[in-house]
Amino acid sequence: MARIAVIPGDGIGVEVTREAVRVLDTLAARGVPLTHQTFDFGAERYLRTGSAITEDELRGLGAFDAMFLGAIGDPRVPDHAHARAILLGIRFHFDLYINLRPARLIDARLSPLRSADADPIDIVIFRENTEGVYAGLGGRLRRDTPDEIAIEEDINTYRGVERIIRAAFKYAERHGRRRVTLTDKANAMPNAGALWRRVFAEVGAAHPEVAREAVYADALALDLVRRPSRYDVIVAPNLFGDLLSDLAAALVGGLGLAPSANLHPGRPGLFEPVHGSAPDIAGQGVANPLAAILTTALMLDELGFAAEAERVRHAVGTALERGETTPDLGGSLGTEETGARICAALA
Ligand code: NAD
Ligand code: IPM
Ligand code: MN
Repeated sequence: MARIAVIPGDGIGVEVTREAVRVLDTLAARGVPLTHQTFDFGAERYLRTGSAITEDELRGLGAFDAMFLGAIGDPRVPDHAHARAILLGIRFHFDLYINLRPARLIDARLSPLRSADADPIDIVIFRENTEGVYAGLGGRLRRDTPDEIAIEEDINTYRGVERIIRAAFKYAERHGRRRVTLTDKANAMPNAGALWRRVFAEVGAAHPEVAREAVYADALALDLVRRPSRYDVIVAPNLFGDLLSDLAAALVGGLGLAPSANLHPGRPGLFEPVHGSAPDIAGQGVANPLAAILTTALMLDELGFAAEAERVRHAVGTALERGETTPDLGGSLGTEETGARICAALA
């Protein structure tokens, strides 16, 4: 029996998680061995009790086979303290160093690009997930004065760089992918750049069947829009991976369709849509649940239910084909109705 910890979180995180859980329940009713337990980590609890997530609770999540998270973020918590504690807290506690973010164009009509009809887009971003400017090393001196200094260190370790690059090449090899693209700013940040490029060459040499190239992150942002079908597996430091995964999502239908997985082989993964809590549309019942539902497919893959994952993706593909979607994709359905149709297709 696979046990899943469910963290709906804030804003539309709650709304889309409801539909993702409905998908899991539909599969469970058909005999897939899945159970779940819901946790209340999020802004409501943080504002009420002052506690975002405790050390014990973080450890407790380790008893599950996987974690599913909707989104964390609430304008009432202006410094994002609870989001860092929960989201980055889980990523760091379990050392989930791989942030896998696929961007595949399921239906050419979804892309804002004119070229989409002719060219498939099928990109997988391997975002380093435990270091870089997210490491939390730094501080502020002389706060709230004109002499304030704020330091946000960019941490790049050989071990950290090596394991994410290795994961990207391994994935490329296993899935018959033709190329791995490293992105960095080695021209402006030569220290980190030299480390990443050295390791990229070292690890890449052990995978001669996979082509490799390095592209500056600014140039890659341009080229992803200009000719996205050229790209295959992309490996990126934490921050660049964050930015480029939103960009890649926009090319294939937007954040409403973008899933992600935070992984460390052998440990429970954290599965979440790429999008946030979207305060601008929260509470209206119009958030697109398909990113969350496609995230359950990634989770099912990792849990060893590949056939069920494929069925979920197929149901989403059919819904998109029929235009049974929320307004962000041009449809007129609400969150719940969109989820209900996926469940009906699965049942
Ligand atoms: P966001 O991803 O929440 O929203 C960006 C834009 O995309 C908004 O216009 C929103 O309406 C739209 N959008 C996002 N998801 C959608 C969906 N499923 N259906 C339809 N439209 C959708 O990013 P933001 O506005 O920058 O951030 C809001 C809050 O979420 C912030 O507090 C941020 O820190 C947090 N955040 C959390 C996560 C996470 O928990 N994984 C990820 C990103 C942002
Ligand atoms: C994401 C989000 C988070 C990140 C924020 C909310 C800290 O943007 O998951 O992409 O930057 O990793
Ligand atoms: Mn992001």
